[in-house]
Amino acid sequence: METKEQNTVSRGAFLRSMGLSTSALMAFYCMGTTLSSCSTKDDDPTPTPPGGSAAVTGTTTGGGINFNVDLTSDDFKKLKTTGEFSIIGDTIVIATANKNYVALSKACTHQGTTVNYRSASTDILCPNHGSEFKLDGTVQKGPATSPLTVFKTTLSADGNSLNVKA
Ligand code: FES
Repeated sequence: METKEQNTVSRGAFLRSMGLSTSALMAFYCMGTTLSSCSTKDDDPTPTPPGGSAAVTGTTTGGGINFNVDLTSDDFKKLKTTGEFSIIGDTIVIATANKNYVALSKACTHQGTTVNYRSASTDILCPNHGSEFKLDGTVQKGPATSPLTVFKTTLSADGNSLNVKA
């Protein structure tokens, strides 16, 4: 007489007995148990870090901007090179010269398009309608008429962390 235990064969053991490979087993598990395993990216409970990178800590948007950028990280080590820039949250952070940084609001004051830094002319261009801004935020060329907001930047003593603050 068979016992209940003898009749209970795990799904994995059963499939293995049919000669399915490990990858085929994983596919089976994913199809059959979508509620409990093999989660998709949409199910990832990890929140998006500020500025879209784990190398940024603090507040990168809104009125209370105050964040630190790890300049040794893969995402932002380029900011150690003069002429490079990054868009972080609501800001554009620019490496203007050796260990000098400027941070401004990234949204063009004309219609809100994200601006770019032009290292050749050391100014800021809005790619939408061609407004230009100086590094102090003032308008160099319209149609924008209002300046970009300038944030305070402070480089750590070791040069590896940049603070941007409203
Ligand atoms: S949105 Fe920048 S110039 Fe129009």
